[in-house]
Amino acid sequence: MADRLAGKTALVTGAAQGIGRAIAERLAGDGATVIVSDINAAGSQAAASEIGRGALAIAADISDPSSVAALFKEIETRAGGLDILVNNAAIVPFVPWDEVDLDHWRRIIDVNLTGTFIVTRAATDRMRAAGKGGRVISISSNTFFAGTPNMAAYVAAKGGIIGFMRALATELGQHGITANAVTPGLIESDGVKASPHNESFGFVETLQAVKGRGQPEHIADVVSFLASDDSRWITGQTLNVDAGMIRH
Ligand SMILES: NC(=O)c1ccc[n+]([C@@H]2O[C@H](COP(=O)([O-])OP(=O)(O)OC[C@H]3O[C@@H](n4cnc5c(N)ncnc54)[C@H](O)[C@@H]3O)[C@@H](O)[C@H]2O)c1
Repeated sequence: MADRLAGKTALVTGAAQGIGRAIAERLAGDGATVIVSDINAAGSQAAASEIGRGALAIAADISDPSSVAALFKEIETRAGGLDILVNNAAIVPFVPWDEVDLDHWRRIIDVNLTGTFIVTRAATDRMRAAGKGGRVISISSNTFFAGTPNMAAYVAAKGGIIGFMRALATELGQHGITANAVTPGLIESDGVKASPHNESFGFVETLQAVKGRGQPEHIADVVSFLASDDSRWITGQTLNVDAGMIRH
């Protein structure tokens, strides 16, 4: 739907590659001014120039409060307000349970869950001050439902995101801000292709109702809907997008 986000500004974290990049491209195609943010500064710059349509690259580490403060200062200067936040940035590890130590646990919770909080705190404060409502869409994972192996800290963080979006929906509904989670199944992103998760497609496809390999665009299309006015009556929800692998 061309231009359904015309006049809106959207921040997508972790948008240098993979699912985040596809979301940034889709929202820009819908007419939004997109902030392509990532810890990888060169990658976000390259993605923003390839996407075009006025997309802006602003590097930031979501787990570092001063980096996020600088990100929002720059958003204010270069784009004005913010209407849509897509919390996508995360570390996607493959670590067997016997190797999960406290350092790993803290790192994953710090980036994937606390980082999501840091960005959401800053974004929703600005949405409230502007008084125009807003959208918060956080990328969780269907590994939360499946209890997928080799990802214990990650699965815990992704479950935390689902709980966080439910609570945020309650807190911010009165301000016209919706908060929802999306749980992708296995997606052939840049990160997955370069990791042992790439070996899991065959098995995962046997569990899917619809066959094929999940692509970043499958997630971007759903995020586009949740970012739009068409989703205004949906909040505090978890939308599972995995070709029917998990049915609940
Ligand atoms: N690919 C899948 O199968 C799959 C399935 C379910 C959920 N997800 C979720 O989708 C999202 C994107 O996954 P992907 O597969 O595209 O991953 P990816 O590894 O290809 O991309 C992740 C991006 O996040 C960035 N990033 C990492 N740490 C960051 C930080 N501290 N601050 C800012 N940016 C940071 C990376 O630089 C990278 O560009 C993640 O939240 C992931 O958990 C992915």
